[in-house]
Amino acid sequence: MKYVVNGGNKLFGKITVDSAKNSILPVIAATIMCDEECVIKNIPLYLDVIEMSAILEKLGKKVEVKDDNLIISGEIRSTSVIMAETKTLRSSIFMMGSILSKYRKAIFTYPGGCDIGKRPIDIHLEGLEKLGVKFTFANDLIYCDADKMKGSEITLNFPSVGATENLMMASTLIEGEITVIKNCAREPEIVDLANFINSMGGKVYGAGYETIVIFGVKRLHGTIYKCIMDRIATGTYLIAGAMCGGRIELAGTNPNFLLPLIVFLRNSGCKIDLFSDKIILENFTRLKSIGKIETETYPGFPTDLQSPVLVMQTISKGTSIVHETVFEARFKVVSELAKMGAKINVSERYATIVGVQKLKPANVICPDLRGGAGLVLAALSAKGRSEVDEIFHVERGYYNLEKNLKNLGANIEKTE
Ligand code: UD1
Repeated sequence: MKYVVNGGNKLFGKITVDSAKNSILPVIAATIMCDEECVIKNIPLYLDVIEMSAILEKLGKKVEVKDDNLIISGEIRSTSVIMAETKTLRSSIFMMGSILSKYRKAIFTYPGGCDIGKRPIDIHLEGLEKLGVKFTFANDLIYCDADKMKGSEITLNFPSVGATENLMMASTLIEGEITVIKNCAREPEIVDLANFINSMGGKVYGAGYETIVIFGVKRLHGTIYKCIMDRIATGTYLIAGAMCGGRIELAGTNPNFLLPLIVFLRNSGCKIDLFSDKIILENFTRLKSIGKIETETYPGFPTDLQSPVLVMQTISKGTSIVHETVFEARFKVVSELAKMGAKINVSERYATIVGVQKLKPANVICPDLRGGAGLVLAALSAKGRSEVDEIFHVERGYYNLEKNLKNLGANIEKTE
């Protein structure tokens, strides 16, 4: 599948942002800890969500989609997470924490996911070892024995999002034991997962801060929950508005989660109005380059918006530097952008971009999820016909991207 884009239109109108992929995935994993029915409301069916649900079903849970809600019930029958989906979906690793918490044994394959760096799972495994889990490695599989799980104090050597979430889940059902996790990641999606666990009767305190404390409980009960909006999708649409020009309104969003991007867009020349639950962006001038931007863990500039921002710099006046500090291989989109006339030089984790007046249309291929989204933005801003191929990468984390962009006046179609 590909997008055929006739770029050059300004964008006008309003869209409502969906729930966050990065919240929904760990929340789906967390439902393993509960036998009663969990309803996750207004769920966008990202490809990653479909795959995560498929893994859950193969393990034995009942998963239904009804009126936009994901309804998950029953118990898993198997604790072997070794199916093909795990090779493409890194988030399958979240199931390690939830399965061990409830069933105390599991077999896992190494998880796959976007090819944006080495992406090891050592921080997850070291943390789980501190909780008493024993690992054996054979035939590319990870055998986990958690018979002797206990509460513990764990200091992460890097504030990994996934490891923080996995350890929160792993400690949730260690009844009567206290776990303290230090140097935690502080992303809003971590707070969302903690709120979800607590809505099932868990006791997770301090999510969103550097130290999280979990009081283990005996069991969890069913719940109805709605995840927070997707700040990365919001950011992507805002950058589309900035690059194409026009006036767009994003509803259902929380501007507090996007402050570094908002500062960046304002410094680039965009007018932005913030409300408690919406953002309005207006731009009718040539963008200015921002000098230097560096990705960081939350509340710093999100690595997931690095590719869209890099693409925006290609048509901003002046020279800018993008420094990727989180994932070492997140500049794969650069060779595709060169086909569109972008001037970018990459050296290790730095990209230097000299802004050109306009990109030219071209046929390009998505290298990964966020890089692919960046290419869509490039195609929207380049006057003429572009094709953006291998969009399954993009559909892993954007729901109804082309419909939303069409609603804003873009000329974009999805075809075989
Ligand atoms: C999550 C997000 C992803 C985002 C990333 C950073 C989800 C589903 N995905 O991914 O969209 O880009 O946070 O904000 O929420 N690392 C290790 N060892 C580990 C774990 C991580 O070295 O055991 C390294 C990674 O290789 C990477 C860095 O730590 O360089 C950040 O990874 P992490 O925060 O764990 O990201 P994910 O949870 O994979």
